[in-house]
Amino acid sequence: MQNRVTTTSLYKMKKEGKKITALTAYDYPFANMVDAAGIDIILVGDSLGMVVQGKENTLAVTMEEILYHTSMVSRACSYSMVIGDMPFMSYQTSIEKAVENAGRFLKEAGASAVKLEGGADVCNVISAISRASIPVQAHIGLTPQSVHQMGGFKVQRDEDRLMADALKVQEAGAFSVVLEGIPSPIAAKITKALEIPTIGIGAGSDCDGQILVIHDMLGISNRTVPKFVKKFADLNLAAQQGLKQYVDEVRGGIFPSKEYEYK
Ligand code: KIV
Repeated sequence: MQNRVTTTSLYKMKKEGKKITALTAYDYPFANMVDAAGIDIILVGDSLGMVVQGKENTLAVTMEEILYHTSMVSRACSYSMVIGDMPFMSYQTSIEKAVENAGRFLKEAGASAVKLEGGADVCNVISAISRASIPVQAHIGLTPQSVHQMGGFKVQRDEDRLMADALKVQEAGAFSVVLEGIPSPIAAKITKALEIPTIGIGAGSDCDGQILVIHDMLGISNRTVPKFVKKFADLNLAAQQGLKQYVDEVRGGIFPSKEYEYK
């Protein structure tokens, strides 16, 4: 079995030019499949609000909900690094609250790092959490928790601001940074300028790694997905076919046949 992924192995991968793979997962069976596939990072994203809870955005996800999902994911993993996503308002109100909430992901849910959204504006939070020996992944560019401030889920194009945010989160102690919804040439420049690994989502192929939401890339839900999502499977279609066959067989008296009966 391969050794578990750590912040150190991620730095090494960047240095050696090996691409980092990351996906979201929210429960035991999916995390088990992702871990077995050798994906380096599993993020228990607050995207669970949209793809699991069926909400319009990520804002309503609570600490208790995400801790519950993170503990299911952690139990399933022996290779992937598990990162818990800090929900909206779990790190914005005070530094003390932010450190306390970040610690809960490690103490109660078995994660080995946390992620939070924001650039220069959250550097004091990143520093404080890192000083408490909790690795922090930053997240800049299109930050879904700021959907109302950004006026929608929009690609972010202010190169100077993005570069400044990236350098500042690195200086504050982040071990990695997610670059979301950023034109590829800007993400490439940021990736070159940073020592910490960049993980892209809608940020082109020059990032050190890539992340997608598992429900989108496996075609589990049939929600409209952003342009950057490639569907690697169509599990919704496969499930619909299986469900239809079940209905037909139960209604037609075909299932259960003798082989599924107790004698
Ligand atoms: O919540 C999430 O799933 C995320 C990733 C898409 C980066 O933040």
